[in-house]
Amino acid sequence: MFKIGRFSFDKPRVLAPMAGFTDISFREFCYDLGADFAVSEMIMVKSLIYENQKGFELMSKSDKDNPFIIQLAGGDENDFVKALPYAIKFGADIIDINMGCPVPKVVNNGAGSALTKNPQKVYDIVKMVKDNSPVPITVKIRLGWDSSTLTYREVAKNIELAGADAITVHRRTRAQMYGNIYPLDVFKEIRDIVTIPIISNGNILTEEDIEQNFQMGVDGVMIGRGAIKYPWIFSKNTPNITHIDRYNALIKLLNLHLKYHQEQKGLNLMKGHYSAYIRDSEGAKNSKNLLMTATTTEDVLAIINSFFGINN
Ligand SMILES: Cc1cc2nc3c(=O)[nH]c(=O)nc-3n(C[C@H](O)[C@H](O)[C@H](O)COP(=O)(O)O)c2cc1C
Repeated sequence: MFKIGRFSFDKPRVLAPMAGFTDISFREFCYDLGADFAVSEMIMVKSLIYENQKGFELMSKSDKDNPFIIQLAGGDENDFVKALPYAIKFGADIIDINMGCPVPKVVNNGAGSALTKNPQKVYDIVKMVKDNSPVPITVKIRLGWDSSTLTYREVAKNIELAGADAITVHRRTRAQMYGNIYPLDVFKEIRDIVTIPIISNGNILTEEDIEQNFQMGVDGVMIGRGAIKYPWIFSKNTPNITHIDRYNALIKLLNLHLKYHQEQKGLNLMKGHYSAYIRDSEGAKNSKNLLMTATTTEDVLAIINSFFGINN
């Protein structure tokens, strides 16, 4: 059991922040399947400072976001301080700082995983955010920039020293992107370096993976792509998922996207999810292709119903 501010958690399974996926719809969907908490998609501090509408939309809060964790990304501590009031106004219970994003547009501004190159800057940002935030702070890192810049020891220490309430560690460097991954032992090592809660992340796909991560002494596990592929990973009793379960889940996810977004936006966001449900049978490929180009809810439903053999 551990605490972040007023929130208590017992070996939580956490939905990872994923731009284009972890919106209010997918978060609600995963909470209903058992996710203990989730982190919002990354929002650039500058987009909040400039009052960009898209940034505000990314901060849509669900009643089920408890806590509501807003992830901010930036390269300058003063920008974080300016962006904070917006995140608080939109209901953030916890602020997560992104120090893992590998995307050029982000790292070229000294944000995301670029910060792992500069442990002093990590300290300065976390300290400044902590000192100015009315809510707890967590930080999500990669192990470093590349194999010759493995800064996680110093970075993790500085994050704790600067007052963060928890740390999430994705056990890859920036250079590894989403490919090769460091061994799980790295979490054991970090466990010896910091006393704040550690949430482990990277390639967690099965119950066995979850168990192995906890054996390293981490306090929680964060699941990203595994949750897109198999959201039932959040249900602790690993249910046997049937064809009809997949159908019902897909319809629920579609309805959530249509509830929270305009039709076109909702249907576009759904495109990243179809592969998880439309599978294992003849015709899956064809149905998925049709779904990629369908532009109305009616057409989408017709394709889904036809794939699953549902007559309406
Ligand atoms: C499509 C996509 C978008 C992502 N967006 C974010 C993001 O906004 N913020 C962040 O900290 N990490 C982001 N990540 C990284 C994930 O949170 C996670 O660290 C990474 O996918 C490794 O975990 P996994 O192996 O469980 O997927 C993203 C990953 C993917 C695949």
